[in-house]
Amino acid sequence: MLRGERVNLGPIKREYIESFLKWFNDPELTQYLTSYRPMTRMAEEEWIENLKNREDTINFSIVIPNEDGSEKLIGNCGIHEINWKNRFGEIGIAIGEKEYQNKGYGTEAVELLLEYGFETVNLNRLELCTYAFNVKALNSYKKVGFIEEGRKRQHVWVNGKYHDEIIMGILAEEWRERKKIKK
Ligand SMILES: CC(C)(COP(=O)(O)OP(=O)(O)OC[C@H]1O[C@@H](n2cnc3c(N)ncnc32)[C@H](O)[C@@H]1OP(=O)(O)O)[C@@H](O)C(=O)NCCC(=O)NCCS
Repeated sequence: MLRGERVNLGPIKREYIESFLKWFNDPELTQYLTSYRPMTRMAEEEWIENLKNREDTINFSIVIPNEDGSEKLIGNCGIHEINWKNRFGEIGIAIGEKEYQNKGYGTEAVELLLEYGFETVNLNRLELCTYAFNVKALNSYKKVGFIEEGRKRQHVWVNGKYHDEIIMGILAEEWRERKKIKK
């Protein structure tokens, strides 16, 4: 369990499947993600089952701890397509419970992922792609130190229009420098 001030990153549990099915079948959420097909229970079960065999991806649930020891599942995140030779990986995140978006939880979860990616996994670079219309995500990533590295013009077709995709990245040395300044 990775503990933050307000959110923790924990393991993915089978019991989360109902929430995952709700989130990843909601076009309001999936418009920001690469998935656009209906998510079936079968596919979701298979995804969870296969996690244990995946060497190139590390997934977490995003939970808010309650005072009674229980926790509220609000999203998931992870470092994907890890390239062990060149030491980089791609960050992915979704705060699936919509009423918990825009309250700083996503930014804190990404901060925890960066700390984990650089300090535990010893990656040198973390990167991500986001759609140019995803202002919330762009703001949140910039806040933790990602910088825009490029833009693929008209790279995605979403809601009846082409949109640019923004490529962002942060290096371990940049993250360590920010951490030093913050202290
Ligand atoms: C993107 C996401 C992870 C961000 O997490 P979050 O908890 O909602 O975001 P946060 O509250 O931590 O930060 C969002 C920032 O964007 C700002 N923001 C939100 N809506 C905005 C808007 N329309 N215009 C400008 N800024 C906006 C917020 O004010 C906040 O900045 P602040 O803290 O300086 O005020 C989350 O919204 C999410 O899961 N979205 C849907 C799925 C998704 O987009 N995943 C990422 C794909 S790359």
